[in-house]
Amino acid sequence: MNTFAGKVILVTGGSSGIGRATAIKFGERGAKVVVASRREKEGKETVEMIKKAGGEAMFVQTDVRIASQVENMVNQTVRKYGHLDIAFNNAGVGGIMARLIRTTEELFDELVDTNFKGVWLSMKYEIPVMLEQGGGVIINNASIAGVSTAERLSVYSGSKHAVVAISNAAASEYGRDNIRVVSICPGWIKTHMTEDLRSRKDADTMIQGNVPLKRLGEPEEVAEMVIWLASDAASYVSGGAFIISGGMNV
Ligand SMILES: NC(=O)c1ccc[n+]([C@@H]2O[C@H](COP(=O)([O-])OP(=O)(O)OC[C@H]3O[C@@H](n4cnc5c(N)ncnc54)[C@H](OP(=O)(O)O)[C@@H]3O)[C@@H](O)[C@H]2O)c1
Repeated sequence: MNTFAGKVILVTGGSSGIGRATAIKFGERGAKVVVASRREKEGKETVEMIKKAGGEAMFVQTDVRIASQVENMVNQTVRKYGHLDIAFNNAGVGGIMARLIRTTEELFDELVDTNFKGVWLSMKYEIPVMLEQGGGVIINNASIAGVSTAERLSVYSGSKHAVVAISNAAASEYGRDNIRVVSICPGWIKTHMTEDLRSRKDADTMIQGNVPLKRLGEPEEVAEMVIWLASDAASYVSGGAFIISGGMNV
């Protein structure tokens, strides 16, 4: 079980959903986990959950849209634990679904700044640490909307296609430095982000009609894929977008 003993893992967006589930699973497997997000109470709750599961963790309040805060997140990680082996850049927002011409500039900026700029900034500060220590693994959370798209998803989908692209570019640039970079593409997962979908009157019909496995995914099922991608079992895996969607395309 202690497959990550001694490893230092950074999880952005660790205050809920997929990030929280993944942070806990890394903690259970012996890692030292840094949980980063804007919400302090929820982030610290994740830290407590990790400690309860026998792991070690700390919280660093971070808005991934702001360079100085992302730099501080990485600096604090290295100051506390000495290195950074694995980064799960997971922080993201869905916003409201809107037709392209009805998308406000404010929504565009929120989606692109969080989902794309946040991943770029995270890698910008994580990679120098990994270069210095001789390697590392980066997993960026995109979406099934990062490899396909649909109506009223144009900007969200654009921001997630950008995550897949920058992940593949980083894999090309830093593979020779022993840094593996991949992106993951979840479908509908049972988190805050799918609350609207789940509260619809026709939710069951929507899910049964769109998802071949006929249900939403659990955050823990995504976490299992992240754990595998981060592990030595995936030592030849770099570049690529890993779909986990119960068979769904958007
Ligand atoms: N659920 C799905 O169906 C689904 C499908 C495909 C992809 N995804 C992706 O999965 C990732 C995690 O989402 P989730 O489903 O777990 O939903 P969630 O529970 O809403 O989690 C989103 C996380 O991102 C953090 N976050 C948002 N903006 C941030 C910012 N500016 N700075 C730092 N952290 C920020 C949130 O923390 P704070 O609010 O505390 O900052 C929260 O921890 C996202 O990138 C999302 O696009 C989800």
